[in-house]
Amino acid sequence: MSQRYRNYIGVFDSGVGGISILKKMKELLPQEDFLFFGDSANAPYGEKTPGQVLALSERIARGMIDDGVKAIVIACNTATSAAAAYLRDSYPQLPIVGVEPAIKPAAEAFPNGRILVMATEITLELEKFRNLSKRLAGKADFIPVKCIGLAGRIEEGRLHDPDLMDLLHSLLDRYAGRVDAVVLGCTHYPFIADQIRQVLGDLPLFDSADGTARELRHVLEMRGLIKDAGSEGRTVLLSSRDTPEELELYRRFFKARIPY
Ligand code: DGL
Repeated sequence: MSQRYRNYIGVFDSGVGGISILKKMKELLPQEDFLFFGDSANAPYGEKTPGQVLALSERIARGMIDDGVKAIVIACNTATSAAAAYLRDSYPQLPIVGVEPAIKPAAEAFPNGRILVMATEITLELEKFRNLSKRLAGKADFIPVKCIGLAGRIEEGRLHDPDLMDLLHSLLDRYAGRVDAVVLGCTHYPFIADQIRQVLGDLPLFDSADGTARELRHVLEMRGLIKDAGSEGRTVLLSSRDTPEELELYRRFFKARIPY
């Protein structure tokens, strides 16, 4: 076995979205080596069955483990909901960090507020989110919005084209002026924060990047796996849609500024 990414941190998503989490982890742990894998050939995950997402996630995780990673970050709310528990059971020796919609910090910042939760259908339907929102019921009013088609559209790039705004208007217009804050419950959405604000107004946005990066640092520290600070670590971007154009899109997302 080649173990070509020995001691890297493996990070995966259905596609480009997880790069929003990767950027934060790089900021917090610049010395670490990261292997990012986006499954763009199979995106979007949010419109598959939970069983399909589980199978795809398992295949990616197994590949990363064969390549020698020391930890895995599931940088996808949908795959976390469908596969995190199973992967942790299957690979108990490996730290596996998932993401979840940041409804707790949003509820703490806006007690009794009206909080829009944008996410994929799977994320909102599965037990993980249901349990989380049940635990926080009474702290704020959560309004879930299944953003069907949105992650798939972001995968196409061209984030300033009018059809993306049309899709956002169709999903969000009815909430404009009626909510206090927005949870971006899919790792693709931070890349279109400006466009979301154009529809909903200049509202506070909550994503999972910060919490996930801190959780990763904590887990690595607990297990004595943190790399000593020193030179900047490597970052490898890979996609299951392995074309020069796709990898260029990944690099553009990696360089993009998240505007909040
Ligand atoms: N980025 C993903 C998430 O956080 C998945 C989007 C999709 O592929 O549908 O949920």
